[in-house]
Amino acid sequence: MSTLTIRSAQPSDLLAIEAIEKRCFHSSRRSSRRALAHSLRSPSQSVWVAVVDGETAGAMTLHHRARSIRIYSLGVLPPFRGSGAGRRLVKMAIALARTLGMPAVVLEADRRNKVLVGWYARFGFELDTVLKDYYSPGRHAVRMRLALRPALKGGQGCGCS
Ligand SMILES: CC(C)(COP(=O)(O)OP(=O)(O)OC[C@H]1O[C@@H](n2cnc3c(N)ncnc32)[C@H](O)[C@@H]1OP(=O)(O)O)[C@@H](O)C(=O)NCCC(=O)NCCS
Repeated sequence: MSTLTIRSAQPSDLLAIEAIEKRCFHSSRRSSRRALAHSLRSPSQSVWVAVVDGETAGAMTLHHRARSIRIYSLGVLPPFRGSGAGRRLVKMAIALARTLGMPAVVLEADRRNKVLVGWYARFGFELDTVLKDYYSPGRHAVRMRLALRPALKGGQGCGCS
């Protein structure tokens, strides 16, 4: 049985993350090595990797904004797809947003990719806005949003008995 671990990416993960970007995204949509290096050291971003049996199988870049966490990039290498690495990374982003008290997690997805949009919907993401010509002329994106309930402050019950 294979082991899947999610951990915070380190500068030494740069080349592995770049390889994932190259394999998962068209050249017009992927981040350059320079941009990835910036993400790794930026205080307003965080990068996470999924490691399967010691191999870096997937990566996710998050943008930490004032009132949301944005899943900026998420990719899993084809041989590792379908085993839950993507799901674990998305769940990690949601858990992080809750821990930080963020009211929402947002992302953009290719509107034509119904499988992908449906996959995010299964986490509770809802369609927010259509972003016209987001990727290129005629290639629209949808912004999706997962609203998170504010954590209850200590001492306040939920009203249930
Ligand atoms: C989307 C992606 C990260 C999912 O990773 P994963 O590790 O395969 O995800 P999981 O194993 O947790 O879940 C598999 C599910 O992914 C869904 N999925 C979404 N997009 C998919 C795609 N392009 N290809 C295959 N499956 C996809 C399938 O519906 C599958 O559902 P199932 O569990 O009912 O079979 C991965 O398919 C990927 O890297 N795709 C290319 C890059 C991309 O589109 N990233 C998202 C940009 S916003």
